[in-house]
Amino acid sequence: MATKKKPTGNTGKMEDSEFHEFFIDELKDIYWAEKHLATALPKMKKAATSPDLAAAFEKHTEETKMHIATLEQVFELLGEKAAAKKCDAMAGLLEEATGIIEDTDKGTMIRDAGLILAAQKVEHYEIATYGTLRVFAENMGHTDVVDLLTQTLDNEKATDVALTTIAEGFVNEQAATE
Ligand SMILES: [Fe+2]
Ligand SMILES: [Fe+2]
Repeated sequence: MATKKKPTGNTGKMEDSEFHEFFIDELKDIYWAEKHLATALPKMKKAATSPDLAAAFEKHTEETKMHIATLEQVFELLGEKAAAKKCDAMAGLLEEATGIIEDTDKGTMIRDAGLILAAQKVEHYEIATYGTLRVFAENMGHTDVVDLLTQTLDNEKATDVALTTIAEGFVNEQAATE
């Protein structure tokens, strides 16, 4: 890949580089991931037992819609059309969340413990993705894009912490007694 030359029009500008193309491709991947997460989170909210967890999922649904809008801004800043490309990792993580709902009983804290596990896997995936994409944007000198990706990254981290607080606050303890 590193040695592959673009057939035409390589002016040596960052926008024409393969790294830039790769960056755009990865943005399309996380765009797909966020869009699908935005439709999965309400289902996770509905499946949750405790009101606290349901509220956390509802909050993050709205935040996830913001992440989608932020990515659209990023595409615009880069002069690219916002397009989604299937993210196999998010597809798998969301499949796992569905499996946890199927495998646990409604109204139990084991269900909530499982949902938190699934949601934290998602958040960690997002944290890894945005962390790396932000560094890519830094390397390419897209300062405005760095700022936008940092906002989302910080929100994903805060969400992860909030989920840990719920798990450690009462969910895991109650799940252990069921
Ligand atoms: Fe997100
Ligand atoms: Fe998230």
